[in-house]
Amino acid sequence: MRKGLADGSAAARARSARRRASPSYSEWESLSSEIRRCQLCPLGRTRTHAVVYRGGLSPRIVFVGEAPGREEDLRGIPFVGRSGRRLDAAIACLGLGEKEFGVLNVLKCRPPHNRFNAAAARTCRPYLDRQLDLLRPQVLVPLGRTALRAIAPNAPPVLKAAGIPLRSSEGRILFPLLHPAAALRSRRWAERWDRDIAALHDWLAAGSEKNHTVGRSR
Ligand code: URA
Repeated sequence: MRKGLADGSAAARARSARRRASPSYSEWESLSSEIRRCQLCPLGRTRTHAVVYRGGLSPRIVFVGEAPGREEDLRGIPFVGRSGRRLDAAIACLGLGEKEFGVLNVLKCRPPHNRFNAAAARTCRPYLDRQLDLLRPQVLVPLGRTALRAIAPNAPPVLKAAGIPLRSSEGRILFPLLHPAAALRSRRWAERWDRDIAALHDWLAAGSEKNHTVGRSR
C-alpha cells in the first residue's frame, strides 16, 4: 500500500462532492455529437470516425490514451484493437464494473501513419477538458508518455511516474501507467505493466483515491 498525504482542503472536498453527479444525457450527447462532426483540424478530413468515448457516465476512473489507431478509426470506439484488449484485461483485474470506468483519447481522430500530431492535439484539447468536466472521474489514468504530458506537463517522465499516484497542477488525481502497447512489445515491459496494474489495484482497494491520498513510495 502507498504512503502519502491526505488532502483535506475545502476545494478538494467541494470537487469530491460534485464529482459523483452524472452529466445530463443531453449535455453529454451534445458534446459527443459536436466531436463527431468536428472539422477544426485537418484530421477531420482523413478520419473515418471521430472516436469519442466508451464507458459509464459517472466513472470512478478514466483511462486516457493518445489517439485512435486503425481499428478505433474504423469502429469509432476507443481501444478496441490489440492494445485495447490488453487494457480490458487489466481493467478486469482491477475488478471495475462496466459503469465504473471510461476510456478516451487526447486526440479524437486518427492521425495519418499513427503519428501523434501536436498541433491537432492543441486544437482538440478543449474537447478533452469538457469531457472530463462532465464526467468528473475521481482518478485519471494517463496511458503512456504522450497522454501524461498532455494532462500533466510537469510530471516526471512516464517510466518514473507509472505506478505511482500523483496530483496534477490542476488538482487532478492521476495514476499514470505505461501505454498498453508497451506491454505487447517485450516481456520486460509486460512485467512492468503487470506490476503497475497491481499497484493501482492495491491503491484502489485501500480507497486511497477517495481520501485523495497521493505520494511516492519508490
Ligand atoms: N492507442 C491509443 O492510444 N488509443 C486508442 O484508442 C487505441 C490505441
